[in-house]
Amino acid sequence: MSQPRILIIDDEPLMRISIADALKAEGYQVKVAATGSEGVDCIKKEQFNIIISDLRLPGLDGLQVLQTCKEVSARTGVIVITAHGSVETAVEAMKMGAYDYITKPFSMDELLLIVKRLVKMLELEDENRSLREELEGRFSFKGILGKNEKMREVLEKIKLVAPSDSTILIIGESGTGKEVVANAIHHNSSRREGPFIRVSCAALPESLLETELFGHEKGAFTGALRQRKGRFELAHHGTLFLDEIGEISQVVQVKLLRVLQERQFERVGGTSTIEVDVRLVCATQRDLKKEVQSGRFREDLYYRLIVVPVYLPPLRDRKEDVLLLAEHFLEKFGNRMGKRRGTLSEEAKGMVLRYSFPGNVRELENTIERAVTLSNHAGNVEPWDLCGFPSCPYLGGRPQATCGFCSEETHLMAGEIGLRVEDLAAAREQFERQYILKVLEKTQDNKTEAARILGVSRKALWEKCKRYGISKGANG
Ligand SMILES: Nc1ncnc2c1ncn2[C@@H]1O[C@H](COP(=O)(O)OP(=O)(O)OP(=O)(O)O)[C@@H](O)[C@H]1O
Ligand SMILES: [Mg+2]
Repeated sequence: MSQPRILIIDDEPLMRISIADALKAEGYQVKVAATGSEGVDCIKKEQFNIIISDLRLPGLDGLQVLQTCKEVSARTGVIVITAHGSVETAVEAMKMGAYDYITKPFSMDELLLIVKRLVKMLELEDENRSLREELEGRFSFKGILGKNEKMREVLEKIKLVAPSDSTILIIGESGTGKEVVANAIHHNSSRREGPFIRVSCAALPESLLETELFGHEKGAFTGALRQRKGRFELAHHGTLFLDEIGEISQVVQVKLLRVLQERQFERVGGTSTIEVDVRLVCATQRDLKKEVQSGRFREDLYYRLIVVPVYLPPLRDRKEDVLLLAEHFLEKFGNRMGKRRGTLSEEAKGMVLRYSFPGNVRELENTIERAVTLSNHAGNVEPWDLCGFPSCPYLGGRPQATCGFCSEETHLMAGEIGLRVEDLAAAREQFERQYILKVLEKTQDNKTEAARILGVSRKALWEKCKRYGISKGANG
C-alpha cells in the first residue's frame, strides 16, 4: 500500500481539518465528508483503505456509515470516534466490525498510531490474500480446489478430457464435489455455449424418470395432454448431467444404452426417432461395479459409462485440502456477508483436521458458513465458532446431541481415554491427568518446566499430581 487512501467523516469543521492535515503530513491521501450521507456517497463511488468516522453525525450516524461500508467494501478498515462517556456505542461499532475506536478528546499522535497499526494490518491481509490467491491458482481448476495428490490428478484429468466428447463417470461420496466437477467439464468443453442440463435420477420414480429423460407424445398416457420434450432433447448441443445414475431402473437402463450406442431414441408413446447431439456426464455414490456383479446394473451400460472414470476421494483422505478449503470458504462467506475475514485459530485447525467430515466438502462448507454467520468478532475462528453451540462440550459445557461436530470431537477425546461421552466431569479429570503425564514425559519430569508449559504454579501442579496419583521422579 504505497499511499493509503483515507476518508474522514466528521461534522465539526475544525476536527475534520486538523485530522486531515495531520494525515496528509504523514503522506496519506485524504478525502473529507461533513455528513453521514456525504460519506456514504464517497464510499459507494470510491475505494478507501481506511475510514475515520465520528459516531455522532447529523442524519445518517456513524453506525449506519459503518454498516454501509461493511456491505460495499468489506476490506476497508474503519476507525470510529466517540464522545467521552459513550463507550457502549463504541462497543457496538466494534461488534459491527470497526477496527478500533478513539475517544474524544484525543491527541493526533494517538490517532496516527491507530492508523499506522491499521495500515500494517491491512498490508498483512493483502499479503496473505495474494499468497492465498497464488496458492489457490496453483491448486485449483475453475473454482475446484485441491492440493492433495489424488485431487491434483483429478483436476489434471478433467482439464484434459473436458474438451473431448467422451462420456464421463464421476464417482464419489455425498458432498465430494461431483456436481462442481460436472459443471467444470461442461464449461471447459466446446459445448460451453450450449445447455447444461441436470437430472437427478434418484429423485423420480421409474415412469416419471423415463418421460423426464425422453419426453412424451400427446396422449402417451392419461394426463399427457401435450407433447413434451425430454431432457435429452433439451440438452441438444450441450451436456446432460445424470446425477445418481446408479438408481435408474432396468427399463431406463435399456433406453439409455440405446441412446449411447445410436444417439437416438423415441419419446414415450411416440414412433418417430429423434436424434440428439449430447455429451453425457454421470455421477454416482454407489460402487457401480458391485451393482453389475449383483445384477442390478447392466454390464454393457456400465462399460459405456465408464469410458473416463473420475474418482473423487472423501475429504477424510485428503487432509491437505481441509485447511485450504476452510480458508477458501472463510473468504467466500466473509465477502458475502461483508465481514472482515478471520482465520482459523490453531485449536480450530486441529479440530477440523481431526474431524472426519462424513458429509465431505459440503459439510465443511456449511460449518464455515455457520461460523462466519454466528461469529460477531473479526479475529480468529475458534472451535466454538465452528460448533455454533454456546454450551459446546468442547468447552466443557453440556453435550449437544444436535451438534455432529462436537459430539464427534468429544467422542474422540472420550474414546481415547476410554470413557462414556456423558461422563463429562470424569472425562475432564481423566483428560487432565493424561495431559499432565504427557507434559511431564516431555519435560523429562522437570516439574518447574512442566508447570510453566501447563500455565499453573508448581504448587498447583504438585497438588494435581497428588490428586491424580502421579508419582514420577522428584526432579525439577
Ligand atoms: N474441491 C472443491 N473446491 C471447492 N469447493 C468444493 C469442492 N468440492 C466441493 N465443493 C463445494 O462443496 C459443495 C458440495 O459439492 P457438490 O454439490 O458438487 O457435491 P456432490 O458430490 O454432488 O454431493 P451430493 O452427492 O450430495 O450431491 C458445493 O457447494 C461445492 O461448491
Ligand atoms: Mg450432487
